[in-house]
Amino acid sequence: MNNIILNNGVEVPQVGLGVFLTGEGSGTVNAVKWALDAGYRHIDTAAVYGNEAEVGIGIAASSVPRSEIFITGKVWNDDIRNGRVREAFERTLEYLGTDYLDMYLLHWPAEGTRQAWEALEDLYFEEKVRAIGVSNFQIHHLKDLMNYGHVIPALNQVESHPLMTNQELISWCRKYDIATGAWSPLGGPRVPLLEHPVLIELGEKYGKTPAHIVLRWDIQRNVIVIPKSSHKERIEANLDVFDFQLSNHDMQRIQSLDMGLRVGPDPDNFDF
Ligand SMILES: NC(=O)c1ccc[n+]([C@@H]2O[C@H](COP(=O)([O-])OP(=O)(O)OC[C@H]3O[C@@H](n4cnc5c(N)ncnc54)[C@H](OP(=O)(O)O)[C@@H]3O)[C@@H](O)[C@H]2O)c1
Repeated sequence: MNNIILNNGVEVPQVGLGVFLTGEGSGTVNAVKWALDAGYRHIDTAAVYGNEAEVGIGIAASSVPRSEIFITGKVWNDDIRNGRVREAFERTLEYLGTDYLDMYLLHWPAEGTRQAWEALEDLYFEEKVRAIGVSNFQIHHLKDLMNYGHVIPALNQVESHPLMTNQELISWCRKYDIATGAWSPLGGPRVPLLEHPVLIELGEKYGKTPAHIVLRWDIQRNVIVIPKSSHKERIEANLDVFDFQLSNHDMQRIQSLDMGLRVGPDPDNFDF
């Protein structure tokens, strides 16, 4: 497993398991347990996914110590808007069955971001979270935050996949030493990205699946990537990306599939 070093020195395993829509009950518990058994050491969750308790059960059911697992949590928009970051954080810890988070993110740039960011900074200074960051922030949201913030976000987690690379934002973040996490890296549950002829062709060339090609592209462009699956075989397979290398030419070919196609909401125009 590769690690990415954040701007405060904390290390994040570059591939993590995303648990949005891994399901209630045993669905999420099993996904987390299978992932940890397979060698994942990074779980990406959020209060709004409604399955933090199941993530906690999955972690407790594995033989991997908490200290070896990087857990990312996110403050939901209602809590940002209503100034309830600390309460949200305490609830998340309780559900997960832990007494700290490795990364805590503002989920969307909702109204109330300034106050919420200051609350995150407090948690960080109190050493209750090892790193803090944001999600779905555009350049203008980040510029604004960096005007009043005391801590530069360690991470911006945004939509990014071959059909919407979000490269301009990623490159801007890199200039300020803000790492990027890619959500919906495989195109999410609705867009058939993995059936793209170029990804199929590259899969055949490297003896890998289209999913491997996309995840490897993320690894080589130094992006943290959090594919979701509810299936044991796919969870295991998605980690099998460290034994080959895409050529520069093929990296460019994947990059050139970008057509600005969002599979999720637009951070400049969301209504939740
Ligand atoms: N910060 C944010 O606002 C935000 C927004 C969206 C997502 N996220 C995070 O990012 C994570 C990943 O994004 P996502 O869940 O939207 O989409 P994704 O990981 O791009 O794609 C998940 C879809 O791909 C399928 N899949 C997984 N591995 C596969 C493989 N090897 N071959 C073929 N199909 C495969 C899954 O099906 P099965 O499950 O049936 O295998 C599921 O339908 C989320 O779980 C969440 O943690 C964050």
